[in-house]
Amino acid sequence: MKNIGILGAGFMGQAFARLFMQAGYEVMLSNSRSKNSLFSVASSIGCHIGNQTEAIEFGDIVLIAIPFVNYTDLPVTLLKDKLIIDTMNYYPDRDGHFTELDHYQTTTSEMLVKHLGNAKVVKAFNAILAKDIVKDAKPNERVNRRALPLAGDDAVAKQTVSKLIEQCGYDYVDAGNLANGWRFERAKPAYCIPLNREQLLQALDSADRYSELPHNSWKQA
Ligand SMILES: NC(=O)c1ccc[n+]([C@@H]2O[C@H](COP(=O)([O-])OP(=O)(O)OC[C@H]3O[C@@H](n4cnc5c(N)ncnc54)[C@H](OP(=O)(O)O)[C@@H]3O)[C@@H](O)[C@H]2O)c1
Repeated sequence: MKNIGILGAGFMGQAFARLFMQAGYEVMLSNSRSKNSLFSVASSIGCHIGNQTEAIEFGDIVLIAIPFVNYTDLPVTLLKDKLIIDTMNYYPDRDGHFTELDHYQTTTSEMLVKHLGNAKVVKAFNAILAKDIVKDAKPNERVNRRALPLAGDDAVAKQTVSKLIEQCGYDYVDAGNLANGWRFERAKPAYCIPLNREQLLQALDSADRYSELPHNSWKQA
């Protein structure tokens, strides 16, 4: 697997394009507008640009980095057999309210799977701020580097993404199935705070589904 298509070319999409290229992957970025709007960005990063269809067809892996509210826009047929990395988080102030999430009945990635009908969705790379993605990567260090959580229902897909996380310069912690994804979503102790493997295991373990950290406290960590 050498090609990664990225849907969303904002703070996250651009940072991941840089990170994956650094790790030796070919990357195609796309946004909701024309690929021409990404011309300067692509020149600066050195990645390919395409429209959404082209990015999906390009990617052995497709990374989704768009606002959660727009997940139902994602094309079901094109994404049917793809390995998908879901970086989206639910921010009611931005996305509006989703009752099933407000009532802790499901997780964002389970909702994505329901929309796509594709079980090869791995929740990963959502618990790190865009500004830290390239900065915190330590591809040449093995000891005490930052660890990132992931969750998924397809064991093979999860293994592929675990390997990708390591190649990019991070340790990883498998948090279980997508139903466990809430443990490292917004306002939980593992969310967007730099932690090594041991600390991340503790943070995941200490998460309480029904309580949230103060808004944006993770940005001061
Ligand atoms: N920023 C962070 O530090 C951070 C950290 C962890 C997770 N996340 C999550 O990552 C996701 C992206 O965040 P971001 O900060 O990168 O957002 P952003 O800077 O606002 O960028 C959003 C990108 O998504 C594209 N987009 C929007 N709707 C789309 C659609 N229906 N189809 C295809 N592309 C679409 C936009 O394209 P146009 O500009 O053409 O509309 C834009 O390129 C969010 O779910 C966020 O919660 C963000």
